[in-house]
Amino acid sequence: MEFSIKRSSPEKQRAGCAVVGVFENRRLTRAAGQVNEASGGYLERLLKQGDMSGKAGSTLLLHEVPGVSSERVLLVGLGKESEFNDRVYRDAIKAAIRGLRDTGAKDAVMHLVHVPVKKRNLAWRAEQAALMALDCLYRFDRLKSRRDEVASGPQRLIFNYETPADKKVLEAALAKGRAIAGGMSLAKDLGNLPGNICTPSYLAEQATHLAEAHGMDLEVLEQEDMERLGMGSLLSVAKGSDQPPKFIILQYRGGNSEKPVVLVGKGITFDSGGISLKPAAEMDEMKYDMCGAASVLGTLQALAELALPLNVVGIIPTCENLPSGRANKPGDIVTSMSGQTIEVLNTDAEGRLILCDALTYAERFEPAAVVDIATLTGACVIALGHVATGLLANKQSLANELLAAGEESGDRCWQLPLWEEYQDQLKSNFADMANIGGRPGGTITASAFLSRFTKKYDWAHLDIAGTAWKSGKEKGGTGRPVPLLVHFLAERASKA
Ligand code: BES
Ligand code: MN
Ligand code: ZN
Repeated sequence: MEFSIKRSSPEKQRAGCAVVGVFENRRLTRAAGQVNEASGGYLERLLKQGDMSGKAGSTLLLHEVPGVSSERVLLVGLGKESEFNDRVYRDAIKAAIRGLRDTGAKDAVMHLVHVPVKKRNLAWRAEQAALMALDCLYRFDRLKSRRDEVASGPQRLIFNYETPADKKVLEAALAKGRAIAGGMSLAKDLGNLPGNICTPSYLAEQATHLAEAHGMDLEVLEQEDMERLGMGSLLSVAKGSDQPPKFIILQYRGGNSEKPVVLVGKGITFDSGGISLKPAAEMDEMKYDMCGAASVLGTLQALAELALPLNVVGIIPTCENLPSGRANKPGDIVTSMSGQTIEVLNTDAEGRLILCDALTYAERFEPAAVVDIATLTGACVIALGHVATGLLANKQSLANELLAAGEESGDRCWQLPLWEEYQDQLKSNFADMANIGGRPGGTITASAFLSRFTKKYDWAHLDIAGTAWKSGKEKGGTGRPVPLLVHFLAERASKA
């Protein structure tokens, strides 16, 4: 979908459809008021007759409205004016896009971006509109022999402005929304691809494409390289599979010589649990266990598109977790790259086993900060559901940056404590630590484990087990937390 920006007014702008908002109790937004006036009070009459309540998420499509140049007018309900907030705004954009998809309109003017939202400016509203529109139109049907017959929606979304300053704001915000949506789309695609296609080698290939397209530096370590580096923990997970593991290092250099932010993404392309085999029900969803890796690639793509002035290193440890005669067994003891030994009490706690070596590897970049992103624990889904990503950190100012980026982007995270007391649960009689800490506080003990490998730098951990994909009828990758990460990095870039 294309975006364009035009200086015009709701009634005069010619397009397939004009999208305007109405609140409950027949309160018209400014654009709706202008359409109403041009049409001689047509909208007010409809509202009075009860054709449109203005309830949040409702829509009403009108044709050939007198005095209006657009072929159609789509009224979108915005709920009570006093309750109009971020969430209702975003839902209204989604309702509008769905409404437009069901019409034959080739282009549409999105007037909703001019409706004031508490504490949010035009830049925020436009970025969100672009993002929601593209997110809504995402499809994954490349593996179906016959594409689903669904309407593709309008090809062009038009945004009106009145002042030259607003024009600049719109241009920048729409570009940011598009870049983030592109990153999300890449992350969704990689997540949705099945384990037999999206293997560690496939992820490495995708990283190659990104590096070539955007002039980033790429290095892919093979099993022998990892052996030489002493990544015994990562390799212990990989050895159960016939797919060779890869260790991807992708560097975006948009800044000068300042220290980079390092993003580490868990890239388990399928997690069967290994010898500690998972139950069969919904095991297919463990193809999503590389969504941390996918979000790193998506974020780097967005950064490059926006040419953000900062340095970011993406590190992706990737392999499969399968049972076999060569697989990790409960009780096995492995030696990590850091030298610390680990008793593998449950082979299904494999994410931390590959991340710990990647976190040790990250030290060589002398990072300004490290953020790891991982579908790490089922416990996080129990704690926070599918709304918030879990956040834990060894540095509060870094946690605060991520919390703020979550609020700003609408892709929110929520902090859990990482207190010393939780370390006790990782005690092992035979090694420096066990890889599990029992059921209580499972997300925290997973993170307590990782914290033993991140002592040399500021670090935050994002547990995206509940937010990276949706189950059930709408099964699919969500592209989260690409918006959170891009906002976090954009904010850092603006302060450098
Ligand atoms: N990839 C899973 C975490 C997961 C489970 C994400 C369900 C989303 C939904 C991870 O590798 C795992 O299996 N974790 C175990 C850890 C346990 C053995 C300590 C879990 O959460 O059950
Ligand atoms: Mn697992
Ligand atoms: Zn896993």
